[in-house]
Amino acid sequence: MRTPVSITTPIYYVNDRPHIGHAYTTTLCDVWARSQRLDGRDVFFLTGTDEHGAKVEKSARERGISPQALADENSEEFRKVMALFGLSNDDFIRTTEERHESQVKLFVQRLLASGDVYLGEFEGWYDEGQEEYVTDTRAKELDYKSPISGKPLVRAKEHNYYFRLSAYASKLEKFFDAQPAFVRPLGRFNEVRGRLREGLMDVPITRTNFSWGIGMPGAPEHVIYVWIDALFNYTTALGLADPKGTTASLRGKYWPPVYQVIGKEILWFHAVVWPAMLMALELPMPQCVYAHSFWISNGQKMSKSLGNFIDLPTIEEYFAKYGLDAWRWYMTTQGPIGTQDADFSPKHFHEIYTSQLVNTFANCASRTSSMIEKYFAGVMPDAETASMPSSSSAQAPSWSELAGTTAVEVQRRYANFELAEAADCALSLIRAVDVLINETQPFKLAKDPAKLPEVARILGACAEGVRVAAVLLSPIMPAKCAEVLTALGSPIEGEFATGGLVNAARWGRLTAGTRILKCAPFMRVDAPTA
Ligand code: MSP
Repeated sequence: MRTPVSITTPIYYVNDRPHIGHAYTTTLCDVWARSQRLDGRDVFFLTGTDEHGAKVEKSARERGISPQALADENSEEFRKVMALFGLSNDDFIRTTEERHESQVKLFVQRLLASGDVYLGEFEGWYDEGQEEYVTDTRAKELDYKSPISGKPLVRAKEHNYYFRLSAYASKLEKFFDAQPAFVRPLGRFNEVRGRLREGLMDVPITRTNFSWGIGMPGAPEHVIYVWIDALFNYTTALGLADPKGTTASLRGKYWPPVYQVIGKEILWFHAVVWPAMLMALELPMPQCVYAHSFWISNGQKMSKSLGNFIDLPTIEEYFAKYGLDAWRWYMTTQGPIGTQDADFSPKHFHEIYTSQLVNTFANCASRTSSMIEKYFAGVMPDAETASMPSSSSAQAPSWSELAGTTAVEVQRRYANFELAEAADCALSLIRAVDVLINETQPFKLAKDPAKLPEVARILGACAEGVRVAAVLLSPIMPAKCAEVLTALGSPIEGEFATGGLVNAARWGRLTAGTRILKCAPFMRVDAPTA
């Protein structure tokens, strides 16, 4: 029995409107979750909204509504976005839900009892926008300005409850040394590892300057700091504060997550504070915190003040013009998954769409299905496809070998969160089919009736190649791949759906006599004017 797996996104602030950043992280997680489900695994994919804190309280006051009303409204907007993007999350947690609040209190009580949380006084440099203290060294490095908003850091003093992060410094260092893939990509790992050497300060986990949050058990004038409250979502959704409860009995198996996917700006909380809290609670560590970089817009950081966020209405224009799956393809293959930011440009989007989806994927599916329609009345020809060489070279692997190694490689890349590589590897099968068509020219051979058996072998291999590629690409483009697979008489259901990705992609499953319909999953569209 293979172990259940899980993946999480950050929970998004309800004082923001959904934009490309939220869509990006959630789409990556969705691709991974779908790939693992297709591979026959039991998957839990979690996302949700972060609803407490001074910023939400302030925005609500400005609008003259209650913080809860604001949270309800905007959380609903995020939920709708998930549906719009075809995201397959298994739960959507909100930090204002009772199931979350009650468990956060239980966790904090446990930390109080173990001495990991204590009441103390603190004075330090505070980033108001981020609601976060920074160390004196870091404040100096930052020239006493917020790295996010650019506004000056302020000197603040508070009576607060603290989490004894300092006590976990050497344990964390040892953990990092033993788990070099705990933070990915490697550049981000090195960044955190370097900062750990500077030592750790205890972190305040409560505030008294606002009230929109979860009250500290036994001291309700203290409100649990929004970040601490939010991090717990990963465990409250699984019911872990109450190990004997119903939720934990059903979902406890999903802890720890395989990937906690986040943006680079919230790495410290996820790679240092959160692991230390888990150590204090004696809960197993996530396998990997994956911190991607940022989408930028025409070379500039996206920001509210510049008004250059790729927001929901803009994204909807892309859906209308190119379709949801083309959007998902662009997110997955061209995004800032590494340590570099990625520029979102309409021109680049259009180029990728045209070259990879229209000219490669769709063109190959369309050429193949039209020729089968034309020469074999739309019926999969009886072809010994397994022995068909992939090119004229005698050393070339057989098609079944090529498809088999490709499927194994694609599966490995998906599992390893190398999603762009998985996409490229799957598309390489389409490129191989194109080479076969170009080299053998079945449309010319078909003019000679004596050569029809050869045409049958070629087109049989082409159709099977397209089918295998569509299976492998379906986590990224679920609707379009389903369309192609249905046209090829092989939807992923029944026996195709059991036995994992490699089995569904096994060469030769598309049998002679199957009705093949013409298909053209992506159409050419006009280039953007700007
Ligand atoms: N609520 C916190 C997270 C708490 S998790 C316990 C938060 N929320 S947020 O709404 O600001 O969302 C931040 C996340 O949105 C980033 O970590 C990243 O996943 C995504 N992005 C926001 N802007 C982005 C880009 N410009 N590009 C890519 N993703 C970015 O922080």
